[in-house]
Amino acid sequence: MTETAHRAPVVDFDHNSDEHSADPAGSYRALREEHPVAWSDAHGGYWVLSGYDAVFEAARDDYTFSSARNSYGGEGLSVVIPKTPAPFHIPIEIDPPDFKKWRKLINPITAPAAVERMEKIVQHFVTAFIDDIIEVGEADLTSVIGVPAIVTVDWLGLPIEHWKTYAFAFHALLVAVPGTPEFDKAVNVDLPMLEKVTKGVIAERMADPKDDIISYLAGQEVDGRPITADEVFAIVDLLLSGGVGTTASLVSNTVVWLYKNQDVRADLIENPDKLERAIEEFLRFFSPTQGLARTVTKDVEFQGVDMHEGDRVLIAWSSANRDAGHFEDADEVDIERWPNRHTAFGIGAHRCAGSHLGRAMAKELLSQILGRMGDYVVDLDALEPYPHQGTNTGWQAIPATFTPGPRVLEGDPLAATEK
Ligand code: HEM
Repeated sequence: MTETAHRAPVVDFDHNSDEHSADPAGSYRALREEHPVAWSDAHGGYWVLSGYDAVFEAARDDYTFSSARNSYGGEGLSVVIPKTPAPFHIPIEIDPPDFKKWRKLINPITAPAAVERMEKIVQHFVTAFIDDIIEVGEADLTSVIGVPAIVTVDWLGLPIEHWKTYAFAFHALLVAVPGTPEFDKAVNVDLPMLEKVTKGVIAERMADPKDDIISYLAGQEVDGRPITADEVFAIVDLLLSGGVGTTASLVSNTVVWLYKNQDVRADLIENPDKLERAIEEFLRFFSPTQGLARTVTKDVEFQGVDMHEGDRVLIAWSSANRDAGHFEDADEVDIERWPNRHTAFGIGAHRCAGSHLGRAMAKELLSQILGRMGDYVVDLDALEPYPHQGTNTGWQAIPATFTPGPRVLEGDPLAATEK
């Protein structure tokens, strides 16, 4: 347990508690309005930055607020509180200046031009997933929202027959409650199995490259020497955890919200050109990645509090996005809000590498859901939220009915995959 006597203000707050999960935005609002920088004794102790200015300042100062893996607050992934048992991730767990050489490898494969080349495949999977349910007129809409996972798995060059196991395991790591059978199965059974599969593909591509992202990464040089298989794995595992859950969280929140706000849904169906700005607003409003962590590297005064070397810090992107000092009517959705300088993709050096891909997948999913099944009716009583919403928020069951429609693709393009 960390020595907390000198830390103030101390608040009764835990972003992983059931109380917080019941209303994450309300919980952060109450905290932010009183104490935009505060200490919580939960999880061994951590600072919570919930005001926009604090979030902005800390996220841009990697030398004081480090993302590097360390043993403060336990073992595991350094950018979440509490730490989860994930393998080392590159580049998110590396600080500048070393960070730059790694990020340089990822930028070309996630830049707008690269994402444009992926548009057809994204469209294909969204069409196929909607085809799978469209004739029946009834489905759990989260089945369609599996698209980001299958796209990521396919793009990397991993076997798509395992896409669902990848999706569930990476999702469970962030949203299941530790100690539950779902969490334990992900950590003890699925993730070790998938690690073997992923490492096997990396070894194959190092020997015999193909046209996929793992082959691209396997062919890179770092510091004038070939990249190692472990380093490729550390990047691929991060791309999986970044690609699989975040866009799904965004789209699941948006689909339910649009059902509850049918005037906006009708507006978007009639004016699809409004979708791009609307997605920025949904990113702000829902902040799929609610908050991520840093570790303080030296004793420092920050925004009026004394922080100490080794202190853990939660940077609450979602709370910054509702700060009334920065966003007018911050708790309202305005699909035409512009400019919209939200923090949903983070701020600073580690700002999301997959933002263009996330946006493209969200746009295609929402376009086709609104275009092909836009009269969907959600059974609100049967909605199931993610069990805890400290890192990602969203719905894991969205039972709905809609007017049946025709399939678009011939045959069953998903026949060889897990359904
Ligand atoms: C709506 C979708 C998404 C949201 C809200 C989101 C959110 C974020 C946030 C907040 C960060 C900052 C991490 C930090 O500062 O510690 C981040 C980083 C990252 N994201 Fe995303 N993400 C999304 C989609 C994606 C996708 C589709 C991919 C990849 C396929 C991806 C890959 C990454 C990677 C690799 C990083 C680490 C970047 C670095 O350390 O330089 N993300 N993301």
